[in-house]
Amino acid sequence: MNAPTAGAGGPGGTAGGPGGTTPGPGSRRPPGLPQGEREDPVTGEDRLHVVFGTGQVGSTLAAHLADLGIPVRTVSKHRPATPPGGADWRAADVTDPEAAADAAKGATVIYQCLNAPYTQWPELFPPLQRGVLAAAERTGALLVSLENLYGYGPTGGRPMTEDLPLAATTVKGRTRAAMTAELLTAADAGRVRIAIGRASDFFGPGVTQGSTLGERVFGNALAGRRAGFIGNPGLPHTYSYVPDIAAGLATLGTDARAAGQVWHLPGPPTVTTRALLDLVAGQAGHRVGIRSVPKLALRAMGLASPMMRGLAEMSYQFDQPFVLDTSKYQSVFGTAGTPLADALAATLAWYRTRTSTP
Ligand SMILES: NC(=O)c1ccc[n+]([C@@H]2O[C@H](COP(=O)([O-])OP(=O)(O)OC[C@H]3O[C@@H](n4cnc5c(N)ncnc54)[C@H](OP(=O)(O)O)[C@@H]3O)[C@@H](O)[C@H]2O)c1
Repeated sequence: MNAPTAGAGGPGGTAGGPGGTTPGPGSRRPPGLPQGEREDPVTGEDRLHVVFGTGQVGSTLAAHLADLGIPVRTVSKHRPATPPGGADWRAADVTDPEAAADAAKGATVIYQCLNAPYTQWPELFPPLQRGVLAAAERTGALLVSLENLYGYGPTGGRPMTEDLPLAATTVKGRTRAAMTAELLTAADAGRVRIAIGRASDFFGPGVTQGSTLGERVFGNALAGRRAGFIGNPGLPHTYSYVPDIAAGLATLGTDARAAGQVWHLPGPPTVTTRALLDLVAGQAGHRVGIRSVPKLALRAMGLASPMMRGLAEMSYQFDQPFVLDTSKYQSVFGTAGTPLADALAATLAWYRTRTSTP
């Protein structure tokens, strides 16, 4: 298979390279906005931002947009337990393009923050994105899509920049790369305007499952148990912070310079996982041990468990430095992520006061 790339011809094809501000070939400015002009995120009246997905990122993004004074509608299949403050909610099965388009009626910006069960990405994730794509095509809204880094595949420890080819070697990585290719094809054909935001393994208030930095690290640490971890904790590893991801996506949805490109969203500075856990221990007030599952054990468990198999195929991310280069975003939009100590403090504070344990 020819691995699709985010390079020339797609949104990642930043004519000016990392840090450049020239929109790629797929770039189209919102009508009425001269090149480089920033949409006022607070005073615009005739616009609606629709967030598909009310999960870990979608709900934080919706609340962030509402805080900016932007009318927001969220869409998911089931009513969220705690609907994001200030946002409207609509039920839809997004795999139905008609339902997705109907839920997005009136949107000027659409955000793709959906996710499929970890062990069923090839079958279930692409139809979700196709529903959102159909909604964006029919409404003419800018589509801001959140992606992870699986599509790049192993980089041999080289920091990831937006111009890296999507050369995934895993099942989930190839699924993600194919989904990106579908977005780029639609944008290049002029069917939709897109901006892609990519983030690494995330953590933050409310993030418990579906991340390496969730319950097994923060929950265990506060309970005096060892932090569960995969791979080598002595390597640098970028972890993204959900409120930073939300702020980054909001920028992509409100700044005309973002359209037509791929952006690595900023987060806390990258350190080794061990250094991060030392900070967690300092804030927890006691030593936090690490229980690292060896790769062979993970593989063996994968023989019986699809989830373990799913984790095992991604374990390369923890066997080599895994560093996200966010300098392009920072040089264009001028904002960095939250300091690591602050992000960890907010996360631990949430874990200390949460009322229900998953
Ligand atoms: N986990 C990480 O560390 C990480 C890092 C970077 C990027 N990402 C990416 O971030 C994105 C969002 O992930 P997340 O963890 O925030 O997701 P999540 O918490 O699992 O939430 C997924 C959302 O999708 C909705 N959904 C699923 N199927 C649906 C359907 N058929 N119709 C309507 N809604 C549907 C769910 O709603 P219902 O519950 O109602 O079905 C839910 O609101 C994903 O692309 C993920 O790969 C993840």
